[in-house]
Amino acid sequence: MTGTADQTAAPTPATPRGALNRRGPFRAGERVQLTDERGRMNTVTLAADGEFHSHRGVLSHGELIGRPEGTVVENSAGFRYQALRPLLKDFVLSMPRGAAVVYPKDAGQIVTMADIFPGARVVEAGVGSGALSISLLRAVGDQGHLHSFERRAEFADIARGNVETMFGGPHPAWRITIGDLAQELGQYEQPGSVDRVVLDMLAPWECLDAVATALAPGGVVMCYVATVTQLSRTAEAMRADGRFTEPDASETMVRGWHVEGLAVRPDHRMVAHTGFLLSARRLADGSERLAPKRRASKSEYSQEDLDAWTPVALGERDVSDKKLRRAGREALGLAERAARATGPAGAGVSDPGAQDPASAGPGGAAAAAPVPGEEQEDRP
Ligand SMILES: C[S@@+](CC[C@H](N)C(=O)[O-])C[C@H]1O[C@@H](n2cnc3c(N)ncnc32)[C@H](O)[C@@H]1O
Repeated sequence: MTGTADQTAAPTPATPRGALNRRGPFRAGERVQLTDERGRMNTVTLAADGEFHSHRGVLSHGELIGRPEGTVVENSAGFRYQALRPLLKDFVLSMPRGAAVVYPKDAGQIVTMADIFPGARVVEAGVGSGALSISLLRAVGDQGHLHSFERRAEFADIARGNVETMFGGPHPAWRITIGDLAQELGQYEQPGSVDRVVLDMLAPWECLDAVATALAPGGVVMCYVATVTQLSRTAEAMRADGRFTEPDASETMVRGWHVEGLAVRPDHRMVAHTGFLLSARRLADGSERLAPKRRASKSEYSQEDLDAWTPVALGERDVSDKKLRRAGREALGLAERAARATGPAGAGVSDPGAQDPASAGPGGAAAAAPVPGEEQEDRP
């Protein structure tokens, strides 16, 4: 069945949120990734009268609108670009952000190792720029529930913009609460009601009491931390809490390969370190963790150790409110354009799998004005 997509309508199980705006010919308002012959990437938001300028000439967006994904186009100087919609991994590395995002390789591990399943009730903190939220929303699906907690409202704006750009509108399974997880979680989620908790923050150990209370027996807590000192302190805090199984720690290294003729070898460069994953399961109330006996002295910290673990010592950079507000405006502007691109009078997305072609509503796919400064070269 063919129909005009309306990403603002409630999705049916046959049209999961975000599916329609990933198919069909390019439309005004969409994000498109242009890759040149040397593999350099730029992401642009298509506008009917838009142009992509580089020192190698000008490409009119009109060359792309209405053409299929994978089209190769030439600019005014005969310089060629291959045009594709960004995949999730490309999107999170080029979207506006105010803090380090969870890298795609780690997001994939988190979704699998924390067993984020369709329909799950998941809690996440902090939200940061929303990179991990996007992966978690895809995994829980439209029928699931992701409740994200973030201490700083400015980050929540950036995340909301990025999530809405990715899905073409608000996601039905998502809710953000502004506040500290340790204080807020118990106000919103009943004890024993949450299936999975994912923490990406400086001090996850401060939240473990609230997390253990919210998690259902057998539920998973997964922490993503950048340094070994955080890893160690979180693991010891899980053990000390007594309501978790013995924690598992890992890191994920992905090494690219150069494969050309007989020159087949690992890439010279790689993203060597991003973070560590630490996970554990919630024990049933009244049960005790089973683990090999350890010598207590090995795991104890002095107050002096704990005092040294300040945010600055752990490498956290202070991000100014001004920078966050700018990234938030950019993210929300992109979301507005994405909603217009997939809205009722968008360029008519065909979705052969959709059982409920969206109803046409008022409004139109106005030529989206480019966001100042958004045609940036993609970040590695
Ligand atoms: C590294 S960022 C998260 C990045 C995010 N996972 C992503 O992929 O974009 C860490 C965030 O946690 C927030 N945060 C730190 N401690 C928190 C807490 N106790 N409760 C809620 N948010 C917290 C910070 O404000 C910051 O935005």
